[in-house]
Amino acid sequence: MNILGIETSCDETAASVVKDGRTILSNVVVTSLKKHAKFGGIIPEIASRHHLEFINSIVEQSLIDAHIKLNDIDAVAVTASPGLIGSLLVGTSFARALSFALNKPLVEIDHIKAHLYANFLLEKSPKLPAIGLIVSGGHTSLYQITSFKNFKLLGHTLDDAAGEAFDKVARILNLGYPGGPVIDRLAQKSSKNNNIRFSCAPLKDTFNFSFSGIKTAVLYYTKSNPKAKVEDVVFAFQESVVQNLVYKCLDACQKLKTKTLLVGGGVAANSSLRNKLQEAAGKSGIETFFPPIALCVDNAAMVAGMAYHYV
Ligand code: KG4
Ligand code: ZN
Repeated sequence: MNILGIETSCDETAASVVKDGRTILSNVVVTSLKKHAKFGGIIPEIASRHHLEFINSIVEQSLIDAHIKLNDIDAVAVTASPGLIGSLLVGTSFARALSFALNKPLVEIDHIKAHLYANFLLEKSPKLPAIGLIVSGGHTSLYQITSFKNFKLLGHTLDDAAGEAFDKVARILNLGYPGGPVIDRLAQKSSKNNNIRFSCAPLKDTFNFSFSGIKTAVLYYTKSNPKAKVEDVVFAFQESVVQNLVYKCLDACQKLKTKTLLVGGGVAANSSLRNKLQEAAGKSGIETFFPPIALCVDNAAMVAGMAYHYV
C-alpha cells in the first residue's frame, strides 16, 4: 500500500510516499527557516505563505522521486495537529481536496506521535511496548506506547519545551535561531573542566519536565559573568538538560518495566543526548532508538508511515 504523506505543521513543507508503513519511496522537504531567522523565531504568517507557495511542487516531486503516479496512491495522510493553525490549514485543505478528487481515504495524523513513529522507518524496527520521549521545539513529553494506536501520556513539560530552552538560551547569547544545532556544535568546543553548573527542576516522583528555570539561570549567569566563555556556558546548560532527559527516560523504563526506548523530535538530533542516553540505557539493558537526523526534524515520511496503521 502506497501512502502519500503531507506535513505543514510548522516551517517545513514536506511530502513523502511510504510503502506499507516501512519503506520510504520519497521524502521531500523544503524549509522556510531562513526567512524566520532574522526575527529570532517562527513567524506564522511567513510559514503559511511558504506552504502555499511550495505545496504543489513538493507533492509533485515526491511522486516523481517515488516513480509513481497520483493514481498509484492508496491513501492520503496529513498532519492534522498540533501546529500553527494557518500552516496546518494549507496541508489539511490540500490533502482533503486530493483525497476527494482521487476518491481515496484521508488519514489525519498527530504530529507528535508521528515523530516517534520515525523510529519504525529504520531498518531494524523497534518492539512494542516502548517508552517514547518526544523532544521538539514545541513539546517535551513521555509516552507509554503499547500499540500504534495506543499512546498513553505519562508526563510533559510544565513550561518551556526542551527545544524552546535551546532556542531561548541561544537568543540570550546572541547565537541566532534555531539554537539547538549551534549550541550542540559550540558545546563540543568547551574545555569541559570549568566550574559552571546549571540544573533543571527535578520535579521528583512525576514524569513532568520544566526547562524555564534553567533558561533564566543562564540569563543571570551571563549577566554577572560577562567574560565567561560561551562554549563553556552552553556546555553546562546542555549537560543539565541532557541529564534531566536521561534520568526521566530511565525512570519511566524502570517503573513501567519497559526495555525499549524511542526518541523523536528536533532535539533528538542533539549529539550529547544521543550519546548519553544510548550509554546509560545500554547499561540498564534498554534498547534505545533514535531516527537518523533527517527524520528527527519535521518530515512527511513519519506521517505517511504512521497512517498505514490507521487506514
Ligand atoms: O521537531 P522540530 O523540527 O520542530 C517542532 O515540531 O518543534 O524541532 C525543532 C527544535 C528547535 O527548537 C531546535 O533548536 C531543536 O529542535 N534542535 C536541536 C538540535 N537540532 C534541532 N536541539 C538540540 N540539539 C540539536 N542538535
Ligand atoms: Zn516536529
